[in-house]
Amino acid sequence: MSPMSPTPADPRPFRTAAVIPAAGRGVRLGPGAPKALRTLGGTPMLIHAVRAMAASRAVSLVVVVAPPGGAPEVKNLIDEHALPERTDYLVVPGGETRQESVKLGIDALPPDISVVLVHDAARPLVPVDTVDAVVEAVREGAPAVVPALPLADTVKEVEPGPPGEPEPVLSTPVRARLRAVQTPQGFDRDTLVRAHAGVAVDGDGATDDAGMVERLGSPVVVVPGHEEAFKVTRPLDLILAEAVLARRRANDEF
Ligand code: CTP
Ligand code: MG
Repeated sequence: MSPMSPTPADPRPFRTAAVIPAAGRGVRLGPGAPKALRTLGGTPMLIHAVRAMAASRAVSLVVVVAPPGGAPEVKNLIDEHALPERTDYLVVPGGETRQESVKLGIDALPPDISVVLVHDAARPLVPVDTVDAVVEAVREGAPAVVPALPLADTVKEVEPGPPGEPEPVLSTPVRARLRAVQTPQGFDRDTLVRAHAGVAVDGDGATDDAGMVERLGSPVVVVPGHEEAFKVTRPLDLILAEAVLARRRANDEF
């Protein structure tokens, strides 16, 4: 019997935690506070992301990986913005790269967690249905699950050159076969731990946990993502995020 199989002796066979890497600076967003602490609709992005994970009944623990020196501030923020009764949280300090930050979050997980979501603080508006679909696919036996969407743009592989210079095109992958991946990505805990133990941090590190699982040779599956799970990366993304929040608030009034 695999370690993932429920047994009568284990009443909570799939206890699920969400690790939220939030330790990035947000260089592409421009000058200001660390990205995860910037506000959307008056609430820090990180709090939106924590709430999005806690909204799933499956998630019983949220581990926030805080910006350097920011752990006490993050703890205060979470205390101010109450979480559901069923949700515990931990805050740990982050690292130099996203890969290191995620590893620090994984290292803080208690032993009874068997399913792990990894969710970017920079994707504050992911709907709960997407979170639940990822958890469900892991519980049904997939060791690694990624929400993703088909691309609107055609993609070209180029030989990168100096900024602003024309770059030679190497190939054009068939768009219908491509997917843009989002988070939360979901993992059987052992698979994620092995991936992070087996892939050394190289340069900026891996930006995608599922990609690290692929390097182990383990299968990864894609489930449908959601357009509201977009990543807040550049200033225009803040405008989109504010518009999505405004639409949600207007809908809630009816
Ligand atoms: N992240 C992290 N630790 C790092 C770098 C990134 O926890 N050392 C987190 C970010 O806080 C974010 C997620 O990883 O929630 C995705 O990263 P990205 O969107 O690239 O955010 P930043 O690295 O903050 O942005 P930028 O690359 O523009 O500086
Ligand atoms: Mg980054």
